[in-house]
Amino acid sequence: MSDGREGRLRPGEGSGVDGKRVLVTGGSRGLGEQIVRLLAAGGARLATCARTPEDLRSLTASLSAQGHGEPFTRALDVTEPELLEEFVDAAAERFSGLDGVVACAGGARGRGIEEAGARDWSLTWEMNVGHTARLVKAAVPHLRGAGGGSVVVIASISGWKPGPQAQYGAAKAAQIHLAAALARELGPDGIRVNAVSPGSMLIPGKRWDRMRTEEPEAYARFMAELPRGELVTPWEVAQVVAFLLSDASSGVSGAHLPVDRAQNAPTPGGY
Ligand SMILES: NC(=O)c1ccc[n+]([C@@H]2O[C@H](COP(=O)([O-])OP(=O)(O)OC[C@H]3O[C@@H](n4cnc5c(N)ncnc54)[C@H](OP(=O)(O)O)[C@@H]3O)[C@@H](O)[C@H]2O)c1
Repeated sequence: MSDGREGRLRPGEGSGVDGKRVLVTGGSRGLGEQIVRLLAAGGARLATCARTPEDLRSLTASLSAQGHGEPFTRALDVTEPELLEEFVDAAAERFSGLDGVVACAGGARGRGIEEAGARDWSLTWEMNVGHTARLVKAAVPHLRGAGGGSVVVIASISGWKPGPQAQYGAAKAAQIHLAAALARELGPDGIRVNAVSPGSMLIPGKRWDRMRTEEPEAYARFMAELPRGELVTPWEVAQVVAFLLSDASSGVSGAHLPVDRAQNAPTPGGY
């Protein structure tokens, strides 16, 4: 999916990341793709992973065609600890260090409390919290070696405002806590850790986009709950991530930043 900007930035967008060496998990689609595109356009050196090799290849071709270099990519599942750790080490070797990592891959398995099984709960935990913990653990020596760095954890509005599915909200809440705790633990090494909680984002082909086209009345009711009547965009969230990776945010660590246009609940059926 293209962001429609063909790699062009408005004044101020993506500033402060020029030359930064950053690894983003889940960068081939959705929010992760927009983060990768913004950072690449801002002059960062990128590594990213996802499970689908074709999507990584088309991202590479697109960035390269825009003159933003080729990201270092690898097809892997972030819930496989050794594969993720090897990728972090390989990226650090390729770039001779790392300045930042973004834990963006994530999602939910299973439905409500009566339907979701133990495997749905453990997979949801691993996709969000487990992968973030292992990413940070693997990145710490490389960030420390660079004199410090920035970790951004992509949580969710579901992590601090209740809504279905509970296994997803609980995992996202844990990511917010993890970021605050790791900010204290890693602060002495000059490593900052922050959580960003996007609101519901309009991503082509995904849940809210499908609702927009398939259930326009329900979508209109959802939009009526929002102060500006519009969902936050992945590009807007990506800009906050870029800020947190930049030195302009050197005083920000252990923070939880909602980027949701004051959205009230994660879903139209929120509580
Ligand atoms: N969408 C929203 O409205 C929303 C709102 C708040 C927070 N968030 C959070 O924002 C983050 C991104 O969400 P999104 O909606 O942009 O997701 P998405 O469109 O589903 O994209 C997810 C990206 O992560 C990759 N990915 C997914 N599972 C993976 C795995 N197990 N191993 C490796 N890569 C994996 C995907 O590629 P492959 O499928 O090829 O692996 C893709 O590149 C997630 O943490 C999500 O919880 C989303």
